[in-house]
Amino acid sequence: MGFWKNLFSGSVRGESPEAMASSVNYGASGEEFPLGAGEVSSQTLPDSGSQSLSRFAGSNVRVFFSTDRDLDLYELEELCDAVGWSRRPLRKVKKAIQHSFLVVSMWEVRGAKRRLIGFCRATSDHAFNATLWDVVVHPDYQGKGLGKALMKFLIKKLRSEDISNITLFADPHVVDFYRTLGFMPDPEGIKGMFWYPD
Ligand SMILES: CC(C)(COP(=O)(O)OP(=O)(O)OC[C@H]1O[C@@H](n2cnc3c(N)ncnc32)[C@H](O)[C@@H]1OP(=O)(O)O)[C@@H](O)C(=O)NCCC(=O)NCCS
Repeated sequence: MGFWKNLFSGSVRGESPEAMASSVNYGASGEEFPLGAGEVSSQTLPDSGSQSLSRFAGSNVRVFFSTDRDLDLYELEELCDAVGWSRRPLRKVKKAIQHSFLVVSMWEVRGAKRRLIGFCRATSDHAFNATLWDVVVHPDYQGKGLGKALMKFLIKKLRSEDISNITLFADPHVVDFYRTLGFMPDPEGIKGMFWYPD
């Protein structure tokens, strides 16, 4: 988590990044899954997703994905706090969200209550490349296939925009999570490189 913590707190200076650059190239055969096409898409979650939902107590629990970027930043901050990420200035978070190419939030709905349980976003050149940032699932909901579902939703959206080169920077402890989604560390020996101010 060191790299991300530092990146979020803006104190990466002088530290060697532990993160690993990964990428996935989804061609025409990119994975598809049954989600609605609107701004807000609800179950059925992709593959393990529907199965995951059955692990939640109660039958009126639903999980939604949304691409609406009008988020409550305090709620997002709580989610990031829950996984131990350092706080970031909210005005910068707001700006980063506004200028992202795609923002995906994941919500649990229990009756009338809605809770933010996951988030990720992508920046892009709008043509060839996208880079993923801030991939997070609330600890209460981890290990249920929801991170995978969130990522697949995001990748499907990027593929629908004809973006085929998707990259990210993975903390060492989550490299295998991204591998399960088809991301390759250092494909063909390509190294992620970083520049920080002195
Ligand atoms: C990484 C994270 C998003 C994964 O979300 P999740 O909902 O727990 O993941 P899932 O349950 O969908 O797991 C999908 C697959 O990845 C595997 N996996 C999940 N987390 C993993 C990890 N940390 N290391 C290795 N494999 C992992 C699961 O075993 C599962 O494998 P399977 O498909 O073979 O069953 C979540 O743990 C998280 O938010 N962590 C804290 C924030 C973070 O580190 N973000 C990444 C920054 S680079």
